[in-house]
Amino acid sequence: MKNNMIAGTNYIGKSTRRVDGIKKVTGQAPYIAEFNPADLVHGYVINSRIAKGKITSIHREKALKVPGVREIFTHENVPLEVKIDSDYTDPLSPPGSPFRPLYDDKILYNGQPIALIVADTFETAAFAAGLVEVEYEEEDHGEVDLKKNLEQATHEDVPDPAEPRGNAEDAFEDSESKIEAEYYQPREYHNPMEPFASVASWNEEEGSFSIYDKIQGVSSSQGYIAGIFNLEKEKVRVISPFIGGAFGSGLRPQYQLFFAAMASKALKLPVKVVMTRTQMFTFGHRPACLQRVKLSADKTGKLTSIQHEAFSETSKFEKFNETIVDWSGLMYECENVKLDYQLVPLDVYTPMDMRAPGGSTGIFALECAMDELAIETGIDPLELRLINYAEKDQNENKPFSSKELKACYQRAAEKFGWQNRKPEPRSNKQGNKLVGYGMATGVWEAMQQKSSAKAILTAGGKLTVSSGTADIGTGTYTIMSQIAAEMLGISLENVEFKLGDSTLPEAPIEGGSWTASSVGSAVKLVCSKLQETIFAMAAQTNTDIFENKLIENAVFSNGEISVGNSTAIPYVEIIKAAGKKSIEVEVNSEPEDDRSNYSCYSHSCVMVEVHVDEDTGMISVPRVVNAIAGGKILNPKTAESQIIGGVAWGIGMALEEEGMMDSRNGRIMNANLAEYHVAVHADVQEIDVIFVEEQDDIVNPLGAKGLGELGIVGVASAISNALYNATGKRVRELPFTLDKVL
Ligand code: MOS
Repeated sequence: MKNNMIAGTNYIGKSTRRVDGIKKVTGQAPYIAEFNPADLVHGYVINSRIAKGKITSIHREKALKVPGVREIFTHENVPLEVKIDSDYTDPLSPPGSPFRPLYDDKILYNGQPIALIVADTFETAAFAAGLVEVEYEEEDHGEVDLKKNLEQATHEDVPDPAEPRGNAEDAFEDSESKIEAEYYQPREYHNPMEPFASVASWNEEEGSFSIYDKIQGVSSSQGYIAGIFNLEKEKVRVISPFIGGAFGSGLRPQYQLFFAAMASKALKLPVKVVMTRTQMFTFGHRPACLQRVKLSADKTGKLTSIQHEAFSETSKFEKFNETIVDWSGLMYECENVKLDYQLVPLDVYTPMDMRAPGGSTGIFALECAMDELAIETGIDPLELRLINYAEKDQNENKPFSSKELKACYQRAAEKFGWQNRKPEPRSNKQGNKLVGYGMATGVWEAMQQKSSAKAILTAGGKLTVSSGTADIGTGTYTIMSQIAAEMLGISLENVEFKLGDSTLPEAPIEGGSWTASSVGSAVKLVCSKLQETIFAMAAQTNTDIFENKLIENAVFSNGEISVGNSTAIPYVEIIKAAGKKSIEVEVNSEPEDDRSNYSCYSHSCVMVEVHVDEDTGMISVPRVVNAIAGGKILNPKTAESQIIGGVAWGIGMALEEEGMMDSRNGRIMNANLAEYHVAVHADVQEIDVIFVEEQDDIVNPLGAKGLGELGIVGVASAISNALYNATGKRVRELPFTLDKVL
């Protein structure tokens, strides 16, 4: 992309407060459940108590008598149109058939939505729900335990991991140092603060929906509803201005959207459906995963083989997959690599992407295994990583577009004081606390998707840039405003960025840490086109200055354009002189061809200190240093927040998070935040985030790699490794609760 910019404002790369921050802290940012169109009625979902079987009867009579109850939808009276010729897929549907709410009497998993009560208030609907009697015929208790059902593991409809290379088995046998270990991670739930919610209004005259939905990309909900109701996409407008966290749970539309839309069309009233916290445990989760890793090395610590296999849960109707084992062929230089990935279909809902899906899982196993190999070879864990540093991507046989991981290792080690680590377990004590140091490498792919954007500059000097993307709390509003302000050389106050509306230019779903790179590139491009438009207009309106000049020499600064040492002319004057109220441009941007010749990844080095109370086994993490190579950092403040959030979650993943399934009845045992523990303030102490310099001219026009997911990767392994260093006990099963450490 041509870059005409010599900006005077320098917003890119500067710590900038969130442009939506004041709205958020003063309650002026509306979340989905706060939209209340006229005549709104409320839906409340009833969920299945059993995990497998069928509904034999649903008694609605008592509940229907409650004053204020409008209707109760079940599989017996749901409008036929959502059963016939309906397409329930969404842009991220994995292989299989998506779940269809109220389709028939079959129960596929515990928590499956089986009825919707619609009433004048939420409370009435919730009360009436308690009066609906459901009888079931349980087939059996369902298979919900990954470890107990490994024999059902399959490769069918599962993407192959990276090609094997060399002969890992033989190399393993012939090597001097080797380790072999099994790691387990339970299922985990996203649990954003904002529960899932949808407000749907069917317009009978126009045959169209107007919908507010909690989603990470309006195009996802739009396509889903259009498919179910056989509508043109243009007949479904989806709005989603603010998201109270999602972490991947909003990548696919959730069942409340179906219910709100279905009931609104059937009743010809606007319907709001909000999930309860318990219902937040009745759809996608990070899948449970069992991993086996074998590593071997020669005397010098050079890896001679890597074998990594993973078994991950999925539902019986969809084959959800993520990239778990491929990282092991990428992270370190090794000639003999063998990877395997299988899915185990269970009687559960389809798992979903959750912050650094696959990466946080696979790296947990690999980076614990690397620590075990370090112990086995007697080499310092950091040194072992440096010995095996990968200068190119051997999976793809491509160079990296940039990789400043060595700088991450160095900066993290300095800041953390890695040289003070005592290699002998139990040798570092503070009072009755055992002190341990641990480290891990982190990695995430730097992706870029097609994206569009529109820019309007008014004769009043206001710039509005828009794209149908989302801001799930990551700072999209802010960084896009920064890019636009910098490109046009105007102040941030004069820029508005609009997102979260399906009538805006199409953007990818916000996920995969690709929004800064994808939408950011579109915003940069559209502003660059706007520069060209202004320049072309200036050549007409101010001929004396701009005629026969090159745009490459133009300067866009302080809301003015100049060329060479010329007088600077305000854009507003040019627009007015041209007799226009505003100028408008729209672009589609996509990754440049050259990018496919390179492997694009962000990297990190995370180092942690843990304290283990010798008497109680209590574990704390007083200190984490995470050094990040993420390309150009557009806004250090929001970037740091992303990494801190990831690390905090990594601490929860290591020490607390565990979705428990009762295999006696197929039920989720801890579907609430009292029993499903997440890291809270007391668990999260000092977190130091370091961004190392990383120049990347290939990854995208901004040189930014994305930071939403990288922060969590490696944290749990670093904690496991520190626990070993503190106690001499190797914990390979998440979460590391006291009983496993004592
Ligand atoms: Mo992310 S798990 O792609 O929202």
